Amino acid sequence: MFTLRPTYGEDFVDREELLVEMVEALSSPRERMGFALVGRRRMGKTSVFLEVVRRLDENPRVIPVYLSLWDLVEGTLGELAQSLVRETLERFQERGRLPLTVRARNLLSAPLDLLREVLDGVRISVRLRREIEILLLFSRGEERPSAADFLERAVLFPENLARETGVRCVLFLDEFPTLMEVKHAGQALGEGAVRKLRTLYERIEHTVLSISGSMRGTMEAVALSPAAAFWRQFVVREVGPLPKPAVDTLLSRNLGQRVPAEALEALWEFTHGIPFYVQFLGRELARLGGKVTAEAVAQAGEEFLREEGDLLFREEWTHLAPKERKVAMALAQGHSAPTAIAQAVGDTPNVVSRYLLYLEKKGLAERSGRGDWVLTDPVLARWLARQGL
Ligand SMILES: Nc1ncnc2c1ncn2[C@@H]1O[C@H](COP(=O)(O)OP(=O)(O)OP(=O)(O)O)[C@@H](O)[C@H]1O
Ligand SMILES: [Mg+2]
Repeated sequence: MFTLRPTYGEDFVDREELLVEMVEALSSPRERMGFALVGRRRMGKTSVFLEVVRRLDENPRVIPVYLSLWDLVEGTLGELAQSLVRETLERFQERGRLPLTVRARNLLSAPLDLLREVLDGVRISVRLRREIEILLLFSRGEERPSAADFLERAVLFPENLARETGVRCVLFLDEFPTLMEVKHAGQALGEGAVRKLRTLYERIEHTVLSISGSMRGTMEAVALSPAAAFWRQFVVREVGPLPKPAVDTLLSRNLGQRVPAEALEALWEFTHGIPFYVQFLGRELARLGGKVTAEAVAQAGEEFLREEGDLLFREEWTHLAPKERKVAMALAQGHSAPTAIAQAVGDTPNVVSRYLLYLEKKGLAERSGRGDWVLTDPVLARWLARQGL
């Protein structure tokens, strides 16, 4: 059925070429290169990772571990390390490579004595057992390591476990650039953490890393630009909108009826193939029931903007600088050349051009043709236009 959560398995549509490429490369023992997925919000990056994880799980020599840096609550290095260790232990346990007598998830909150007792019964080296203990002490704040030491031990943990159990670990770090904002001892790790990771990565043989990011600017800073630490360390792939036939498939399948060309056109006009919006409108159409028509699509779109627009866009919007907002609003109202925008907001084209570049870095605006600008998200544009400022 329609869902707003990342999807995989039967509900996943399209992107077959990318999936095949990723699964092949990531499970090949000789291939050292992972992937960097770049794509705006809600395009389906997480879904691609989860579907690749699902397929990799069928290979007995490969254990995928998925972690999203957006799932951190406190955003500390301790929390990140603990999540990494927990997910790694759990996945290795699930895949039968780590015969623990208790759920790995529970192990990390157990008292140290109990942890030792459980680990004693498992066939892993003393050194690795000791590493788990140390990481536990670190993440509970019982010992206070430097950020570099902490990061090193956390990252080498899946590597060492993979080596000892004779598998390849495929690590997915979703929303990777957020690493720079993770805090240790009250300070953000910054780019230093990315460089540290890059150095560690050279010593790693049994783990291959793949990353994703929603913001072009921060992805440039960590991987895409020549000055970035992970420059040329990944196969870079863009996750964009779904093609029209895939949107058709998704809708007809989930609604259990053929979607007439006219309605599909209306849906395309609204969503531009961005999977999140397709799912949302699909859900709304399913709720409305009856035949899918262009009018029903328009109604579903209206409903969406009224009920969800605020929830979805308000936060991002309030985080923009006042002048960025003015420029974005002018774009939403259909002004597309810097001179026209400048007139609309009462500023000079020079200033406007600078703010357009800020918006571009944040992934909100893009150049459509020669000198022409548009908001990248058609639904955000509609929502803004409705605010009627
Ligand atoms: N290939 C696909 N087939 C069907 N639905 C999809 C596909 N990819 C994504 N979706 C849907 O689109 C929405 C967004 O997907 P997902 O969370 O994977 O995107 P994302 O790029 O990781 O988004 P975010 O920026 O919020 O992290 C979800 O509702 C998901 O179910
Ligand atoms: Mg995501």
